[in-house]
Amino acid sequence: MAMIDEILALKKERQATILAHNYQIPEVQDIADHVGDSLELSRVAAGLDSEVIIFCGVDFMAETAAILSPKKKVVQPAKGAWCPMAHMIKPEQLQDLKALHPEAAVVSYVNSTAEIKALSDICCTSANGVQVVASLPEKEVIFVPDRNLAAYVARHTDKKIIPWNGYCYVHDHLTTEQVKDARKEHPQAEVLVHPECRPEVIDMADFVYSTAGMGRHAKSSEATQFIIGTETGMIHRLKKENPNKQFYPLNKNAICQNMKKTDLEKVLSALKTLQPQVTVPEEIGRKAKIAIDNMLAVKV
Ligand code: 13P
Ligand code: SF4
Repeated sequence: MAMIDEILALKKERQATILAHNYQIPEVQDIADHVGDSLELSRVAAGLDSEVIIFCGVDFMAETAAILSPKKKVVQPAKGAWCPMAHMIKPEQLQDLKALHPEAAVVSYVNSTAEIKALSDICCTSANGVQVVASLPEKEVIFVPDRNLAAYVARHTDKKIIPWNGYCYVHDHLTTEQVKDARKEHPQAEVLVHPECRPEVIDMADFVYSTAGMGRHAKSSEATQFIIGTETGMIHRLKKENPNKQFYPLNKNAICQNMKKTDLEKVLSALKTLQPQVTVPEEIGRKAKIAIDNMLAVKV
């Protein structure tokens, strides 16, 4: 049996749902039940009936699904596919920051470990950071771990944002020079960038969106050409959904190595063995769930 047929048959047998992030390789996106950004995938994970979730993404995403559905089996096909940014702040460092700013609310970007979420009041994603901060009564907000998303949110609020110095190496490496060159090469194109980009890159963009936001914009815009300032996996989905439009990566080397660790063989093996499973210690999961549920309650 061809591998894809085997995956689909086993998925049915196991009553599993396959979730895939927008940065996954095309073959994996194409066999998934849901492809989305972090916010969409957490919403889907929170509402699923299936017993088994196969999460094609990086550690914090599978962990979030496990926190939201502690009774389900959450399997991450690529063992050790992790987000380096999520590990740039340690729980002790956040504790110290909280002690320095006792009046501040703590917002953790969902790209963080379960331990960090458990120490936070609320989570956010790149799709709802501004709305999450606006929803809080506090005037000061500790925002971890992404300095660039913190700077982006700070532009859209009067509150004092206290950032952590973490960053995503994929987005932080996108440059203003690349935007200039891409605009020269494709003068008709709109420039869409992710809020994990540096502020100076954001200044040069036409629009700033989460990956799902880019998808919605590409569909509804009258423009037919787009320069995409995020991980290159996004281009597959954009092209598939908009076959008559053109998409150019801002930098064709903007590749998240960990997102590319999942392939069809690993998905098949995950369905066969239900391993490697992602679990979160009960007490940490319980506290982290409060922060994620608080985020899911914010209207976007
Ligand atoms: P999105 O939630 O926008 O898909 O971003 C997730 C991510 O890891 C960006 O690098
Ligand atoms: Fe983490 Fe960046 Fe990869 Fe997203 S693209 S998972 S933020 S390293």
